[in-house]
Amino acid sequence: MAESHRVHAPGRVNLIGDHTDYTGGLVFPMAIDRGTTIDYVRGGTRVVLRSDAEPGTVTIELPVRDDPSVVEPAWGRYVAAMAREFAAARGLSGTVTSDIPAGAGLSSSAALECAVGLALGFEGSPTELALAAQRAEHAATGVPTGIMDQLCIAAATAGNATLIDCHRLAVTNVPIPDDVDVTVVFVAHRTLVGSAYADRVAECDRAESVLGPLRLIEPADLEAARPELDELAFRRARHVVTENQRVRDFATALATDDHAHAGALMTDSHRSLRTDFDTSTREMDTAVERLTTTPGVFGARMTGGGFGGCVVAISEPGAVDVGWRVRPSPGARHL
Ligand code: GLA
Repeated sequence: MAESHRVHAPGRVNLIGDHTDYTGGLVFPMAIDRGTTIDYVRGGTRVVLRSDAEPGTVTIELPVRDDPSVVEPAWGRYVAAMAREFAAARGLSGTVTSDIPAGAGLSSSAALECAVGLALGFEGSPTELALAAQRAEHAATGVPTGIMDQLCIAAATAGNATLIDCHRLAVTNVPIPDDVDVTVVFVAHRTLVGSAYADRVAECDRAESVLGPLRLIEPADLEAARPELDELAFRRARHVVTENQRVRDFATALATDDHAHAGALMTDSHRSLRTDFDTSTREMDTAVERLTTTPGVFGARMTGGGFGGCVVAISEPGAVDVGWRVRPSPGARHL
């Protein structure tokens, strides 16, 4: 009988730094102890996968030359796109199990991409895996997403969040203190396909065509830029510039055990995403409000692309009795 193999890739929750990655800014995601596992045997010239959470059987003939974005069932698009990335010729057959709900903003698609990459025999660096998975995401969905999800999922280490400079693709491991709980609360299913995500990328491009790279602008220099931009582009730019600074400050606050300040920065980040970036929803605002008024909670915010998905809170141990407590976990790996 063929030898059986297992790969696992975690989901991620972003603690702070949203809608900054595609302008080369700073992000602070954490790989979580929920993820996607593939059990498989190697062989043949096709990839054949079933999923415990998604419908149908994915059957991909190798090598993949066709457009992955038309594969059915739809979750097979990520599989086909990864197989095409690696010009995979050797097939496999197996099952996908996942405890990250799809469409919750916890990067189930990036986890699937990274897990498929490893199962197909990828042996390069975490950054190479992440870049291939990002290209695959674009090919599968057509949404111009940044590198945050894939790089966090490929590069994370146990016990740490990942502070990522998305311009240099530099990852710094930052320990999450033992006396801080991270809790994720699911609000609503969403998809970035057909959402205003691509509009936000275009609006930031518009601001950058006038101001140059947003990652190089200091919050103190923002007002001077105001007359140069239309009101919408200015608000988008203000979110990105202030969010990059909040990520820096958040890393310092965690390192100096100033949990209250770290939490306040998360709550500020939510406000900025709501008012300047227009990526929150009323349900997400209500969930954040509930969390921030819970005793022992340091701060809360929407997490990920927005327009639905999840909110995240940091708190004293045991302070939050809703949602999932998640722990900082290692990245994609063979088990
Ligand atoms: C999604 C994208 C990421 C990032 C976030 C917002 O998760 O996949 O690249 O842009 O939204 O921070």
